Amino acid sequence: MTIEKTFSIVKPDAVKRNLIGAIYQRFENAGLKIVAAKMLQLTKTQAQGFYAEHEGKPFYDELVDFMTSGPVMVQVLEGENAIVRYRELMGKTNPQEAACGTIRADFALSLRYNSVHGSDSPLSAEREISYFFATDELCPRSE
Ligand code: PPS
Repeated sequence: MTIEKTFSIVKPDAVKRNLIGAIYQRFENAGLKIVAAKMLQLTKTQAQGFYAEHEGKPFYDELVDFMTSGPVMVQVLEGENAIVRYRELMGKTNPQEAACGTIRADFALSLRYNSVHGSDSPLSAEREISYFFATDELCPRSE
């Protein structure tokens, strides 16, 4: 059994529509435990740094503008195969292509306003968790 941690954001479109609780319920129903969480208003510098790998792509500026348009919830999720499990739970980036019952199929508005972010690999998870959380802010809950 591989217990992993992954990084998650509830994006501004979902926070604005009061969907934090509904999305957290999806995490917990899927067996993912929230081991750290906070609400943040990202600065432009924070968002640019977080999405640095996409700098130069046509959607980069729009993505940074969107992610700084209102508060986000950032959290660390822990569970068995958490990275892949959470990617499956989110559904595809474009909600029109996301499978029924996924978070994006049920809550996202568009490719841009797609409600949630999740790490795509163990390396990204490590980088993204440490981008927003100090080690002593995590409260591992696996018995
Ligand atoms: S890529 O080029 O395949 O790596 O990009 P992708 O994984 O599809 O998306 C990376 C993040 O960019 C967001 N995105 C967009 N935002 C605004 N407008 C457009 N057109 C757009 N296309 C992609 C996408 O939601 C991803 O954000 P995160 O937070 O990583 O889910």
